[in-house]
Amino acid sequence: MVPALVARLLQVSSMSATTAQPVLTPAMRAEIEAYFPRYPTRQAVTLPALHIINEHLRHVPQQAIPELAEMLGLSPAQVYDTLSFYGFFKSEPCGKVRAWVCRSISCSLRGGEEVLEALSQKLGVAPGHTTADGKVTLEFGECLGLCDFAPAMLANERVYKNLDVETAGEVANQLKLQADGKGG
Ligand code: FES
Repeated sequence: MVPALVARLLQVSSMSATTAQPVLTPAMRAEIEAYFPRYPTRQAVTLPALHIINEHLRHVPQQAIPELAEMLGLSPAQVYDTLSFYGFFKSEPCGKVRAWVCRSISCSLRGGEEVLEALSQKLGVAPGHTTADGKVTLEFGECLGLCDFAPAMLANERVYKNLDVETAGEVANQLKLQADGKGG
C-alpha cells in the first residue's frame, strides 16, 4: 500500500462523526435506510448510499465517510475503499450539470476528443474541472451506449448526440441553460 494511501486512510479513520457538523441530512439518512431491507448486508448498501449523498451534495465530502460508516456498521476505511474505487465520486462539489463527453472508440473516431477540446474552450474550463460560475463540470466519459450517434455526451440525465466542433459553442450555451433549469 503506497504511503499516501496509508496516510489518507489514517486521516479518514481518525474522523469522528461527532466532531463536526453532520453532512448527512435526515432526508439523506432516510433514503439510505430505505435500502437496508433490499440488500443482504449493510456493507452492500455502501455504493447506493454514496450515490444518494452525491445526488444531494454533488460530491461526497470527507465528513460523509465516518457518518456513513457509522450508519452501516463499517469502519471509515471500508467506506473509503468503495469511494476511492470509483472515479465517479468527487470530494469537491461538481457543477449543476456534469457533462461526460465520450472518448471511447466510436466517438473518438468521429471526433469526440476534438468536440471535448472545443467545449473546453467555449466553457473556459479544462476537462475534469468545473466552470467558475459552478454551472458545468466537463469530463471525459467512456462508452455511453450511444455509438450510433457518435460523438455523444451525457449531461446529467440529458443525452447530446452527433456532436461536432462547429456547434460546440451552441452546445456549451445549452449546458449552461440546462444548469439554470432552462433549455428543455
Ligand atoms: S463509443 Fe461513444 S457512445 Fe459508444
